Amino acid sequence: MRNFDVKDSRLMEDWGTYREDNRRSWNARTAVHITSSFYDVPGFLAGKDTLMAPEMSLLPSLEGQDVLHLQCHFGQDTLSLARHGARVTGMDLSDEAIRQARSLAEQAGIPARFICSDIYDGRNEVQPATFDGVFTSYGTIGWLPDLNGWAEVIAHALRPGGWFVFVEFHPTLYLFDFETRQLGYPYFPHSKPITEESTGTYADPDAGIAVRDHFWSHPVSEIIQNLLDAGLDLEKIEEWDYSPYGCFPNMTLVGTDRYRFEAGPHPLPHLLGLRCRRKG
Ligand SMILES: C[S@@+](CC[C@H](N)C(=O)[O-])C[C@H]1O[C@@H](n2cnc3c(N)ncnc32)[C@H](O)[C@@H]1O
Repeated sequence: MRNFDVKDSRLMEDWGTYREDNRRSWNARTAVHITSSFYDVPGFLAGKDTLMAPEMSLLPSLEGQDVLHLQCHFGQDTLSLARHGARVTGMDLSDEAIRQARSLAEQAGIPARFICSDIYDGRNEVQPATFDGVFTSYGTIGWLPDLNGWAEVIAHALRPGGWFVFVEFHPTLYLFDFETRQLGYPYFPHSKPITEESTGTYADPDAGIAVRDHFWSHPVSEIIQNLLDAGLDLEKIEEWDYSPYGCFPNMTLVGTDRYRFEAGPHPLPHLLGLRCRRKG
């Protein structure tokens, strides 16, 4: 497995450009997401819990826990963690997402701290060993070129014995081009990003925005090995054959709240979930 370090100066130069494109993309998406039926902000303000069954099965009791939510977007899950009793801090690259997260917290009357930062600068933004838990979910690591810097931030933030819960679309699912149902993307790590220009966003494909995105593949081994190398132990690993979000093209609703993308006769792995613990 090839791994590389975003601190490498040549890549770092490029990273500034990729990151700025991605920040712009997420600012444009957030402006659409906040009023989308997909994110249902009125439902959230009326008390809807946005945490889904997969992450609930991995999260410990949140009562009184200091929790850092990485790549928090505009904060619905962060504030849902707070409704479960956590003291929450959300971190995200998009200034528009953080502005909306602060506004949502105020409207909902939920105390929360939101930090606008690139995750790779996270160690400058949070004190070491100050969180009982770190959480991140659905559509996160694909925006990051390397996972060693990511895992280091998680280990930095956690108190000894603290937990990390991760629920992400499965690296196997991301092999597919959802439009054509054909294999279209790499599994193993690659230093140059996949760059795509598109219109609309997963929460509203018809929205009148045009975005340029840069993203990266991360195999299961890269995810887990970087967490182990950063000083976390793996406590639980799970895979699910459905997604709670119908956020990709050609997904079918199965029952009332599960979505599947099919490219053959057998169900594909849709989600990967991990619970880790920082060594005590
Ligand atoms: C798909 S969203 C997270 C999903 C979240 N579960 C939700 O739906 O609310 C991905 C988030 O990652 C953020 N992001 C992308 N690159 C980042 C980076 N380098 N550092 C921190 N956040 C980043 C984006 O701004 C975006 O808000």
